[in-house]
Amino acid sequence: MSSPRLRKVVFPVAGLGTRFLPATKVVAKEMLPVLDRPLIQYAVDEAVDAGADTLVFVTNRYKHAIADYFDKAYELESKLAEAGKTELLAMVQGTLPPHVRCVFVTQPEARGLGHAVLCARPVVGDEPFGVILPDDLIWNEGPGALRQMSELSQRENGAGIIAVEEVPHDQTDKYGIVDATALSERAAKINLVVEKPKPDVAPSNLAIVGRYVLPARIFGLLESTQPGAGGEIQLTDAIEALLAERSVLAYRFAGTRFDCGNKLGLVKATLHMALQDPQIAAATREFVGGL
Ligand code: UTP
Repeated sequence: MSSPRLRKVVFPVAGLGTRFLPATKVVAKEMLPVLDRPLIQYAVDEAVDAGADTLVFVTNRYKHAIADYFDKAYELESKLAEAGKTELLAMVQGTLPPHVRCVFVTQPEARGLGHAVLCARPVVGDEPFGVILPDDLIWNEGPGALRQMSELSQRENGAGIIAVEEVPHDQTDKYGIVDATALSERAAKINLVVEKPKPDVAPSNLAIVGRYVLPARIFGLLESTQPGAGGEIQLTDAIEALLAERSVLAYRFAGTRFDCGNKLGLVKATLHMALQDPQIAAATREFVGGL
């Protein structure tokens, strides 16, 4: 029997975004634009592509801009309509398809990614769900990364799926690293998860990146997860506990990831998108070539 399709996706967006200060004093990191669309739009598009109809944003009290962005902009929309600017109007109205609803949950304190995911429990309830960290922007011409993962999970009886990517060996101490046994070209059964191991003790160079398909059981495990490094409740600790109960798969997605949580990643993503845009691709190429 195949497991239910993924309907709910959680976006933990309550972090402080210190690497983009001072901009993030007032602009949520997820609202930083890559070309003309904020990071959160790319993440939402990927969730919708995966079939989600309920988007759960775990925010903090300063991040009203994300709710405003997906809300109706009455004044702007009527001005654009009056002026006959139909293309712009469609763009403003197209941030979210009509069948998709947004739910906002507050994380009262930044107590870590695991705690942020736990805050979504009352909305997610007892069904498998996706998690997208919007600062990992994953671009793919075909199906998005989360859709690839959701399809794999359905084929594998609802197994938890964690996106991984090969990273340079000298960078293992920046990521959660998995030790996994290959099942197919892209999927592997996880044996062990190690948080930020030094390169000489890392079991592999397969790093966890910001996409997860998780069973609801993870909430119970998060509840009993003790704060780890920096006093934060880590999602990887709860995943380790999940591994003791059932199989969890690592999945090497098709697509290119840009780590937009740091400045260089955001610059790379912006250049990449500029080179996809027929109106500015040639001029961008010329500018970059002349640097
Ligand atoms: P990061 O580790 O990138 O932290 O969080 P950050 O605060 O966003 O950014 P820096 O490092 O200070 O620049 C990874 C993801 O987890 C979310 C963040 O919003 C981001 O999507 N997060 C983190 C929460 O929602 N709550 C937390 O308590 C911590």
